[in-house]
Amino acid sequence: MANIEKQKLIIDTDPGHDDALAIMLLEKSGLFDIQAITTVAGNSTIQNTTNNARYILDLLDSKIPIYSGANAPLTRKLILAEVHGPNGLAGANITKQEPLTGTAVERIIELVKNNPHEISILAIGPLTNIADALTRDSSIIPLIREIVIMGGAIAVPGNKNRVAEFNIFVDPDAADIIFRAPIKKTLIPLDACNNVFLSINDFEELKNSPLYRPIKEMMAHYIQGILNFEKTSGAIMYDPLAAYFFINPVAFETEMMDIKIETQSELTRGMTVAERRSWGEKNPNVLVAKSADRAEFTKNFLEILNR
Ligand code: RIB
Ligand code: CA
Repeated sequence: MANIEKQKLIIDTDPGHDDALAIMLLEKSGLFDIQAITTVAGNSTIQNTTNNARYILDLLDSKIPIYSGANAPLTRKLILAEVHGPNGLAGANITKQEPLTGTAVERIIELVKNNPHEISILAIGPLTNIADALTRDSSIIPLIREIVIMGGAIAVPGNKNRVAEFNIFVDPDAADIIFRAPIKKTLIPLDACNNVFLSINDFEELKNSPLYRPIKEMMAHYIQGILNFEKTSGAIMYDPLAAYFFINPVAFETEMMDIKIETQSELTRGMTVAERRSWGEKNPNVLVAKSADRAEFTKNFLEILNR
């Protein structure tokens, strides 16, 4: 299928073990024309997440261009994740210091303006770059096809504080800008992600793949990190599940919801506050994935990575 028929994507990301798997899934699916990888600080510093993006694309022998972006949230100090280790991709043999272009925001704006109504964005890190793009050039708001966001926690506890999921927690002001913007949005929150995880043995399915060894190395560290910091056993498929929404949206149970972002309180910083009262006045602003079909995802995910 020629590129002109493939859905055009930008992946905004903070690799991150699960980000790595999400990028691999979309690239190896052959279904998408990935126009850019834009990097953001979150799981680690911007230099580390950008180095990690290069490592992942080298593993895929991919020429997708990388544009580095924000090294900190819009207004707040950067709070890093710990799950992914000191360089953000523990277990990976990172040898290259990728040059930082610092042009992620400009590139998002340029790609959207040059491809009106055709660019979809997969946001799998803190939302700083995307919010900055909407603020710098609001004319792109009606031109973005859709944004699929890994983030939030609706009816389950947070994974970074009592109520907030990490991506939204890191830059709640950016999330607030995006949730208020009249753009088609889909949210893949912890409610759907928590039940979708792979064991280290599940990755044995990939044993004949050239990706097997690097993935096994990375997943051993990721699974340990999830156990240490999120007290759960297994490789939770946060970002790959958000990516999978582009491949198989019917594998998700979804509901339109009215969600606002907590930006004022420290205690509930980054909470995705949904109007869940049956009688509440609702202004639905985002399609929320309440659950996902774990078996369907796992089958498709491993099959595509094995290609
Ligand atoms: O809360 C999970 C999210 O935070 C994922 O995107 C993971 O990579 C981290 O960025
Ligand atoms: Ca991520």
